[in-house]
Amino acid sequence: MSKTATLEFDGKKYEFPVTVGTENEIGIDIKKLRGEAGLITLDPGYKNTGSCESAITFLDGEKGILRYRGYAIEDLAEKADFLEVAYLLIFGELPTKEQLNKFTNDIKEQSHVDEEMKKILDGFPKSAHPMGVLASLTSALIAFNPSSVDVSSEEDMYKAIVKILGKFPVLAAWTLRKKNSLPLNYGDEDLGYVENLHKMMFEKPNKTYKVDKAVIDALDKLLILHADHEQNCSTSTVRMVGSSHAGLFASLSAGISALWGPLHGGANQAVIEMLERIKEDGGDTHKFMQKAKDKEDPFRLMGFGHRVYKNFDPRAKIIKKSADEVLGQLGIEDPVLDIAKGLEKEALEDDYFVKRKLYPNVDFYSGIIYRALGIPVEMFTVMFALGRLPGWIAQWREMRLKKEPIGRPRQIYVGENHREFKALGSR
Ligand code: ACO
Repeated sequence: MSKTATLEFDGKKYEFPVTVGTENEIGIDIKKLRGEAGLITLDPGYKNTGSCESAITFLDGEKGILRYRGYAIEDLAEKADFLEVAYLLIFGELPTKEQLNKFTNDIKEQSHVDEEMKKILDGFPKSAHPMGVLASLTSALIAFNPSSVDVSSEEDMYKAIVKILGKFPVLAAWTLRKKNSLPLNYGDEDLGYVENLHKMMFEKPNKTYKVDKAVIDALDKLLILHADHEQNCSTSTVRMVGSSHAGLFASLSAGISALWGPLHGGANQAVIEMLERIKEDGGDTHKFMQKAKDKEDPFRLMGFGHRVYKNFDPRAKIIKKSADEVLGQLGIEDPVLDIAKGLEKEALEDDYFVKRKLYPNVDFYSGIIYRALGIPVEMFTVMFALGRLPGWIAQWREMRLKKEPIGRPRQIYVGENHREFKALGSR
């Protein structure tokens, strides 16, 4: 294979090197394009633009493959727990027992936030969306942990990482407790990361906390499935903000805001709202399929389609099975699950969806599980953020360690040419 790509423009030829990844993905390295040819590429939405070389997550959207650090998502979801996967993503290898114990204990040591943070939370109305509150609280953490991370020091980086992994679940749980008018609490050192999170979210002041193991297992799996997904919108945001050398917490806060949107992490909330709407309308899935296909109608089938997967999202397969299992174990019958299955069946046989390679994505079934676990709809995207946290951290760390330059795209200006200024009275 040729090691260069040739661009011909205006009668001149330019050679560019080609970078080949470990899974044989090929990228034309155009770093010198503007300098040599005075040209830039134009790619709104970055559909064909590689923003970095990364060794964290591999996905093949055509074949439906997802791997973290080389390990298949199916194996990790089945055999590892969330903190093991977090360690793997961030540091590159599965932890030994000692490494995992240390990591777990260091995170536990940081599982508290400054009391003053409660005043900030208090200032939000109860009606505030938990994602907005979480982004603000994560940003506010900087004020209480101001020391900037020296990225040339492994120790400094490690400290910042365990700090945020410890404090983030507290903030996430508090956003829910505030909504539910429950006293703000802390976790229990003796519980695992995910059970502790669940306890903080749901314990009642007058009841002994108890939880079904099936609930924790399902939650653990969901967090693992969401833990990283290479250069998606929120991750690219984290890397972009971090590239200005803003700190880790500031970069994460920006990532949370990016995740909030209904075309990204907010889709899990949008899916349940859509399924509820279909149920209330009489459950006619065919009618809504027609709406989704009608270009005059803004309705889209939420939970379907993906920028990268043009095949079944492997996470959706695992989640669908998990939804069946957990609903069965908890003895829950949810009519919305039947509507989801009906929609999926119709879409997979429909020409419009088949031609455009629109398959169910991770969010199509995750909302159904969250609902079965008693998590309110508005918290769904917060659950996604809790899962994605190690991925964001890993990507930020990789970007800083590689000393990537500040992210700053170019544009093609299509506005007015120079105009004479008109005074206010003569406009
Ligand atoms: N329902 C109906 N039509 C759809 C859908 C959908 N959910 N998704 C894509 N299409 C159609 C588009 O209208 C377009 O049709 P056209 O070629 O006739 O114009 C074609 O399929 C391609 O769609 P794009 O929007 O160009 O694809 P893109 O890669 O830009 O968008 C996205 C991907 C945003 C995920 C889109 O499929 C979508 O809006 N899906 C619903 C929202 C959703 O589930 N988001 C979660 C994504 S996963 C995640 O963030 C974890």
